[in-house]
Amino acid sequence: MILIKKNHEIEAMRLAGGVSSTVLHEVASFVRPGLSTLEIDKFGGDRIRYYGGKSAFLGYRDYPCNICISINEEVVHGLASERRVEFGDIVSLDVGVCFDGYIGDNATTVAVGGCKPEVQRLMEVTKQALNDGICQAVAGNKVIDISRSIQRTAEASGYSIVREFVGHGVGKKVHEDPQIPNFDDGGRHSPVLKPGMTLAIEPMVNLGQRQVEMLEDGWTVLTSDGLPSAHFEHTVLVTEGEPEILTCPENLPSEQRES
Ligand code: MF3
Ligand code: CO
Repeated sequence: MILIKKNHEIEAMRLAGGVSSTVLHEVASFVRPGLSTLEIDKFGGDRIRYYGGKSAFLGYRDYPCNICISINEEVVHGLASERRVEFGDIVSLDVGVCFDGYIGDNATTVAVGGCKPEVQRLMEVTKQALNDGICQAVAGNKVIDISRSIQRTAEASGYSIVREFVGHGVGKKVHEDPQIPNFDDGGRHSPVLKPGMTLAIEPMVNLGQRQVEMLEDGWTVLTSDGLPSAHFEHTVLVTEGEPEILTCPENLPSEQRES
């Protein structure tokens, strides 16, 4: 069942989105060569708590970290460790924050110092795929309109879409209905979007083949061919008109803003 959020819930989702995106930006700027992913994860957890939030991921199905940090061929759900990020790596950062009972979920991929132009382009196209998907998140469209738009953008540039992991509704829980595939899954029973739905749209795009594998840790997802993967995500509100991105820094609660 897809929940339609009431006005007071939407206001709460904006605040959660504001904290979640502010922390994501802070973590992205914090990343530099030589930091271990444990240090990056600790920084993320500290910033979430600084704003009065709680990690929406820590403890979810026993996930052991504050945020998800995935390097190069790691697609999503990387686990923090002693591993240090190096110049030329790309790092996907996924931050979910619970604030006052509601969750904002967002992700970005950044280069550590810099990266090869072909990998830079992978990141740009993945971000564009997310934006193209968001543009379809309007009342009257179906979930599959989002999926097709994302897939078209990624594949037009010669990249492939991960199929095993999908976007999702989000609210009081990290994962609510509907599932939002990033590819055309045939679209039978694809739900119609209605105002008040809040969706986490999150394409995972691979430079090479689409196939992925799970590491023995039970969390880290890797590309099977070892080539890099990028991941971008926003939490979005469906309205009668333009979709509203809830995970934006402007939504940070005013009492938390530094003047
Ligand atoms: N944004 C990711 C997702 O929606 C983060 C989940 S990590 C988990 O799947 F630990 F919470 F599973
Ligand atoms: Co998500």
